[in-house]
Amino acid sequence: MDRLTLDYTNVLSDAIGPKHGLELADLEALSERSEAALAAVQARRDQDLRWLDLPHQSAVQQDVMDYAASVQGQFENVVVLGIGGSALGNRALHRALSSPFHDIQPPAGMPRLYVLDNVDPDLVGEFLDTVDPKTCLFNVISKSGSTAETMSQFLVLRERLIAALGKEGHRRHMVVTTDAEKGVLRPIVESEGYQSFIVPDGVGGRFSVLSPVGLVSSALIGIDVPGLLAGAADMDERCREAPLMENPALVYAAIQYLMQEKKGNPMSVTFSYSQRLACVGDWYAQLLAESIGKRLSRDGEEVFAGPTPVSAIGVTDQHSQVQLYVEGPHDKWFTLLSVDRPDHTVEIPRAFEEHDALAYLGGRTMNELFAAERDGTRIALTDAKRPNVTVSFPAVTAHHVGQYLYLMELAVAVMGEHYGVDAFDQPGVEAGKVAAYALMGRSGYEERRAEIEKSLSGPRRTV
Ligand code: PA5
Repeated sequence: MDRLTLDYTNVLSDAIGPKHGLELADLEALSERSEAALAAVQARRDQDLRWLDLPHQSAVQQDVMDYAASVQGQFENVVVLGIGGSALGNRALHRALSSPFHDIQPPAGMPRLYVLDNVDPDLVGEFLDTVDPKTCLFNVISKSGSTAETMSQFLVLRERLIAALGKEGHRRHMVVTTDAEKGVLRPIVESEGYQSFIVPDGVGGRFSVLSPVGLVSSALIGIDVPGLLAGAADMDERCREAPLMENPALVYAAIQYLMQEKKGNPMSVTFSYSQRLACVGDWYAQLLAESIGKRLSRDGEEVFAGPTPVSAIGVTDQHSQVQLYVEGPHDKWFTLLSVDRPDHTVEIPRAFEEHDALAYLGGRTMNELFAAERDGTRIALTDAKRPNVTVSFPAVTAHHVGQYLYLMELAVAVMGEHYGVDAFDQPGVEAGKVAAYALMGRSGYEERRAEIEKSLSGPRRTV
């Protein structure tokens, strides 16, 4: 099976000069530390980092596939109700491994997939106005089983379903993925008799894409779930113990760390030269931001750590962001995602050959043009001394996407060790959640509500 490669030539000083580039020795100097970080992460594989083992959960994989087979052909639409780590992986897999036009014209017997990861009333209201709930299977995903956004969507859609189908009839339109015990969703699953799957202990939201969180909707829309997990398992094997210079997860983590801490690039741009992989960049943005963006180090010291992730898409953003990337401040480094073998070949016909601006295109392919633009951007970035790596996908298959997801999860876990932060909590997200609970009048949050009301009672400055 062919593997992803990580080409890091263009972060080295030979390519972009010593001011912006790393010496190979800078990387090698992190060998001991990287390998210790990897060992520390792997030591938690059977404890609180069980996501490391998700590629090998063949019984869960089988349960998910069996369920998908049992409902095949029964629903026109699968609708994910979830947010953050309970949504982004679903969208990334759908965009990567289904046709970009799947939802306009799904393959025979397959449902469309919508990911409703917002409570903006103009999204949910429009959905209610447009889509008949009787045609939908609602895939409710919440690890904590209490997230306000997901729970409110669940309440709205459940009521619509019951109105349309009755208490009994609505049940088969719900499938729930949540913790085995915690949160309110699990007892609701039991009392309502919904089909359900478990987010296992030791699998945090943003590390859960290879659990039923990402697998259920994937299986329902015909994604090759065994291939996805096999790809992740392959990356696990490749990275589990390998020393730094043979280990793509360790090399990527070390480059991220050095790019920020040694070379002063606080921004990490994932530049996807693949329309299919565009939402994989969004998935990675959450993984990096929530994992490494921390006020406190693990020793309790204020560090305000973390790179700012940016997700861009080629060639589209060549006509939007690249001006900044090539000539703006030296505060970014780039990960280009590149695909060796697109599924399609599109020929450009010859016409208007009297015009030089068109003559060179006729008789070539869009594949050649796309590759030339990607390589041209890489050359422009490198000439402008902008550090960049390229992750090459031999093709965009489930196996390759599985490799990539696992590579990035492991790399981010190791980054947590380099930055000295807890990569697996999200206290900054909790603060906003608590404020929203208080404003919504949730019981137990009265004191916080009073504080907020006091802080909002002063004069406002507006224009
Ligand atoms: O990574 C995380 O833990 C978060 O982004 C969660 O996925 C997100 O807050 C949703 O939480 P839950 O799945 O508990 O509803």
